[in-house]
Amino acid sequence: MKKRPGDIKILVTRIFPETGIELMRKEGFIVTVWEEDRPMTQAELIERSLDSDALYCTVTENIDSHFLGKCSHLDIISQFAVGYDNIDIEEATRLGIPVGFTPDVLSDATADVAFGLMIAASRKMFYLHKTILRGSWDYFRPKAGLGIELKDKTLGIFGLGRIGMEMAKRCRGAYNMRIIYCNRHPNETAEKLLGARLVTMDGLLKSSDVISVHCTLSDETKGLFDRHAFKKMKSTAIFVNTSRGAVHNEHDLAEALRKGIIWGAGLDVTNPEPMKPDNPLLDMDNVAVLPHIGSATLETRNKMSRMAANNIIEYYKNGRVPNIINPVALDRR
Ligand code: GLV
Repeated sequence: MKKRPGDIKILVTRIFPETGIELMRKEGFIVTVWEEDRPMTQAELIERSLDSDALYCTVTENIDSHFLGKCSHLDIISQFAVGYDNIDIEEATRLGIPVGFTPDVLSDATADVAFGLMIAASRKMFYLHKTILRGSWDYFRPKAGLGIELKDKTLGIFGLGRIGMEMAKRCRGAYNMRIIYCNRHPNETAEKLLGARLVTMDGLLKSSDVISVHCTLSDETKGLFDRHAFKKMKSTAIFVNTSRGAVHNEHDLAEALRKGIIWGAGLDVTNPEPMKPDNPLLDMDNVAVLPHIGSATLETRNKMSRMAANNIIEYYKNGRVPNIINPVALDRR
């Protein structure tokens, strides 16, 4: 029997932009927001989910098989993010729980961060900023703080989907960079529009001046950028990761940078997160690190909030989830 809006309880796992939360309240749902200034513990997440019909959550919630086993009654899980490696999708699908997400709307904002980190690393910006704070901007040394230029260089995209495409466009437009990419499938649009060329993983590692990672985290990609990979890269190369920290091995990355095996790195994602303030990467002159802020603009976060809400609203109104990861789950209801 179809539930009435006034009987539907939505658990919102932290304070998100209100735009989407208001949409759900306007529908008449009972929306409970976890407002404490800390994430829920797993026990709290399970306890509160047990008393809810739908979950509005994000990447730091652990929606594993244990959680799903306890909360198999959930009608829908709506993730405020494009990535969903925190969710056991196979199990959710088996249980017939549709999982919504927020693709596309964050591609520009995230590509901006990848592009910015590439420039920041190439010109040692974060490190040089810190030298001012330390009071060591004294006199002009023509050979100090030298970066490297990006014009006419080769960009290697690992995972040429929506965000990778936006990064490639920026690099092509701003620096006339040649685009090569490594992907499960050829990207015809990128080939036509940007002259991008599909290469092997080895080809990507050997020929790129900048490697920018935009893949999802999976068994295949976990730890893929390790010391063996860094050894194949140019000693002048910059490694940029805005996808998931677990795609690179952070110890190996720090060592590759320390030994000059590669030249620089720009990271919006680290392994683990949050990164500890005494991490050696933070002291390296050619490294720029940000605290996972890829989608963090007012515009994008508001769009994500509405999109995640709309996935829940449409599910209850029309039995469809406009942006769904596991459409098969809807047939199992
Ligand atoms: C952020 O990391 C996301 O997946 O949206």
